[in-house]
Order: sequence, then structure tokens, then C-alpha cells
Amino acid sequence: MRAQTEAASLNHYLADLQETIDATLGHWVPASDAEPHSIHAAMRYSLFAGGKRIRPVLAMAAAQAVSDVPAGVENAAVTLELIHTYSLIHDDLPALDNDDLRRGRPTCHKVYGEAMAILAGDALLTLAFEVLSRLPHVTAEVRVRLIEELARAAGTVGGMIGGQVNDIEGERKMPTARLLESIHRAKTGALIRASVRMGALYAGATEEELAGLTKYGEHIGLAFQIVDDILDVEESSEALGKTAGKDQAQQKITFPAVYGLERSREMAEEERVNAHLALRPFDDRAQRLRQLADLVVHRKA
Ligand code: IPE
Ligand code: IPE
Ligand code: MG
Ligand code: MG
Ligand code: MG
Repeated sequence: MRAQTEAASLNHYLADLQETIDATLGHWVPASDAEPHSIHAAMRYSLFAGGKRIRPVLAMAAAQAVSDVPAGVENAAVTLELIHTYSLIHDDLPALDNDDLRRGRPTCHKVYGEAMAILAGDALLTLAFEVLSRLPHVTAEVRVRLIEELARAAGTVGGMIGGQVNDIEGERKMPTARLLESIHRAKTGALIRASVRMGALYAGATEEELAGLTKYGEHIGLAFQIVDDILDVEESSEALGKTAGKDQAQQKITFPAVYGLERSREMAEEERVNAHLALRPFDDRAQRLRQLADLVVHRKA
């Protein structure tokens, strides 16, 4: 009964935040009829295709763990979704994973062509930094810290692009445990860690709070990609809204490939437990973060 009530309350919380996130994205992204039409339509097509919005949700929940929801935090939070959606559009391109299905729809390049999909990704990336540089409610110093945080997480050294490079080049390499972990920490973990840290920085976290939340972010960041790899094996394309079974077909270095499904599940669970431990110094205000750690590991899509 208690578990059911908690699940209902989490669903409510998520639906509420998702509405705020979508409205905030709608505010910052130029309208589809703004010139040039095609690029804005392509950006909106991928952004509003129904992603889980887990990164902005984590940013807002982390801010809440530090202080009462700080004014305007949703503006900083959506920059994570702009970067994430750009990374998905490019991840799906024929030169990368060559995917036809994303968020339950044909991929951006299938609908708008490769040139426009490349540019839509570029545009979302650029817009993220425009939004951060224009953030209302915070000091210039906080704005600069947030810009640095996002840029590094999306970058080539331990960041998303670095991870994507190792993921692509890994298709022709021996899948070692070390390479696997470094790919996952970079291609997915870095942006999730940054989501938590950006929310915390926005809310004025102390160094101690930031350290705890960073640990939490690292554990759920790794867990998120372990679970993504497991779902690629276990679920259908319909359930995922993206092509299932693709990792094995493309000889990707994944947790199930290196450790098998059962051990992968255990490892995701270990990360979940460690994420909870990292939140031990926090009070009830971190309750949503605890629930989100469970959601990341127990999700089915
Ligand atoms: C999928 O991310 C790609 C990875 C980094 C694993 P999500 O599972 O968050 O995808 P959406 O945003 O909900 O579509
Ligand atoms: C994607 O990893 C990570 C990104 C940086 C986009 P995957 O290639 O496993 O993501 P999906 O499974 O296509 O969503
Ligand atoms: Mg990929
Ligand atoms: Mg992919
Ligand atoms: Mg995947």
C-alpha cells in the first residue's frame, strides 16, 4: 500500500515537472513558423517527441534537495534536455548508430534529411549555451559555473562526445571491462552527473553538499547506461520507442556483452544502493532523488 502511494506520488511529481519542462523548452526554442522554418520544425520534432526528461528532472530534484525550489531553476534544467536531444539526433545518424526509430517516431534524419538533422543537433547544442548565458535570477558567476559544467560534460575529455568516440571506435575492439566502464561513464554518465551538479550549483550548494550529490550523480549515471544496455536486449522496439537488439547487431561494448544479463542487473542494483548511500547526509528534501535512483534502475523503457 505504502509503495503504491509512493509510486502514485512520484508519477504525479514527474508529470508536473514534465509539464514545466515542456513549457520552458517551448519558451526558449523558436516557433516552427520562425525563419528558417525547416530547422525549427526539425528541432521541435525531436524535442517534443516524448522523452522521459530525466536529466532536467534530476537537476530540479537536486536543487530541491539543497533548498526550497529556487526561482527559475527550470531554465537551467532544460539546457540538459537540449544537449541530450542533440546527442540523440546525432547518435541516430547513418554515420553513427544508423537508427530509424527514436522516441516512438521516425528519427530526425528520416523525416528532415541528414543535413537538417545535423544542423538541428548543432542548433540545440548552441541554444543550450545561449539559454545559460541569459539565465534570469542568478549571478553572472553562477551562470559561468553552469556553462563550464555543461560544456565539460558534453565535451571530449571524459564527456559525452569523448564517450561517443570510444563507443564508435569500440565496435572494432576487444570489449574489456575497463574500456566498457569508461565509455559508459563518459557517453551517458557525465551528462547525468552534470544534471545533478547543475541543479545543486543553481541552488547554492555548499562544497560538502555538492560532493555528496556528485557521488550520487556518478552512481545513477553509470546505472542509467547499464540499464539502457539491458533494455536493448530484453525489451521490444515498441516498448522502447527505439530499435531494440541493436547493440549486439553492431557489436557494441555493453554490460550484457561483457558480464552477461544477470551480473549486469546486479551491477545496476549496486549502483542504486551506492546512490542511496551518497544521499545519507541529506534529509527528506532528497526524497525525490532517492525515488529517482530507484526509477533509473527499475524502469522498463
Ligand atoms: C537514451 O536516453 C540515450 C542514453 C543516453 C542512454 P533516455 O533513455 O533518457 O532517452 P529519452 O530522453 O527518454 O528519449
Ligand atoms: C547513446 O548511447 C548515448 C548518447 C550520448 C546519445 P546509445 O547509442 O546506447 O543510446 P540509444 O540506445 O541509441 O538511445
Ligand atoms: Mg550510440
Ligand atoms: Mg544509439
Ligand atoms: Mg542504447
